[in-house]
Amino acid sequence: MQTRGVLGVLALLATASAQSYPLSLVYQFENSFSGVGYVNIENVAVRSSNGQLLLNFATGAIMTQLNPENPVPEILVNISNAYPGAPGSLTGIAETSPDVYTVAAGTFQFGPQVPGGIAGIPGSFSLWSVDLNGPKAKYRQIVAIPEAGLLNGVTALPGKGHYSDVVLVADSALGAIWRVNVHTGAYETIIQDPLLQPPPGAPFGVNGIHASGPYLYFTNSGLGFFGAIPISADGYPTGPVTPFVNAVNGTNFDDFALDANSNAWIATAPNAVYEVTRDSPVPILIAGGGDDMTLLGPTSAAFRGSTLFVVTGGAGGPMPMSGQVFRIETGGYGRKAKKWVA
Ligand SMILES: *[C@@H]1O[C@H](CO)[C@@H](O)[C@H](O)[C@H]1NC(C)=O
Ligand SMILES: *[C@@H]1O[C@H](CO)[C@@H](O)[C@H](O)[C@H]1NC(C)=O
Repeated sequence: MQTRGVLGVLALLATASAQSYPLSLVYQFENSFSGVGYVNIENVAVRSSNGQLLLNFATGAIMTQLNPENPVPEILVNISNAYPGAPGSLTGIAETSPDVYTVAAGTFQFGPQVPGGIAGIPGSFSLWSVDLNGPKAKYRQIVAIPEAGLLNGVTALPGKGHYSDVVLVADSALGAIWRVNVHTGAYETIIQDPLLQPPPGAPFGVNGIHASGPYLYFTNSGLGFFGAIPISADGYPTGPVTPFVNAVNGTNFDDFALDANSNAWIATAPNAVYEVTRDSPVPILIAGGGDDMTLLGPTSAAFRGSTLFVVTGGAGGPMPMSGQVFRIETGGYGRKAKKWVA
């Protein structure tokens, strides 16, 4: 997640010429939907059992289901006010066993008094399990991580069959990766690195993270690059944090989806989707960018087959505009590119 004014940064955008894919709007939330003035969709996953989208909101600790073919949103989980001090937002999401999702939650402060306009409230972050087997969603707290600065992206490590015992969680404020056992709740910091930290005064360093093969791929929003960390099968680092591709000046990489070739399709503030592959030294513009205001603060993306779903955070403030869900038909399973090497 990251939040910044959609206006104001557009002038800084480099003109990116590239192949652009058509965007089609799946759904635009009503401002009234979350009960707090507008909807900021912070993250998205494709539900494995039925292909529908699971949307985590930053405006309310709410998970909503949306069928892209018949988009009528349904709130599955609302943890807000579940108890005194309950989290106000959901962030990352990863499926850890069939139709069971591990999500990160916490509370944020917004506004001009906060450096960067947004900050995670230390001590407010926790991991939750949301079980969608059965007629009604069940949720439970896996563990509170009071030492965390700002829990953001979540990725599951492959486990036995379709089960994962362990998730890795990005901490955007501390510049760290937490490793958490989703059954026991045992947690530890396994990586803390200057290349994962935000620049001084910025709220977000490492943001989206996705484990695939021998790497943990990640974006650093504030420092503006996509990179990877070599990891072992159980998620521990085996090599240095390595930057691969810099964001276009004036843009900020948020969360992303990996295709079958480990190319990353990155939701990018303020208004674009870029693809990064090892074969291109610069990000390839996929949608939006320039002065196109269609995408309002992209936050994350997920593939269903070759369809890329992209969600946005919208904009709060005096003229709120709620988050959106778009689809992009990518036409294949990713361009063949050389493998990343870190
Ligand atoms: C979520 O739950 C809280 C506490 O019960 C409630 O105040 C809020 O209206 C709920 N949000 C929605 C969108 O139902
Ligand atoms: C990027 O933008 C900043 C802020 O406008 C500017 O100072 C810097 O020179 C730019 N860098 C490049 C490489 O264009």
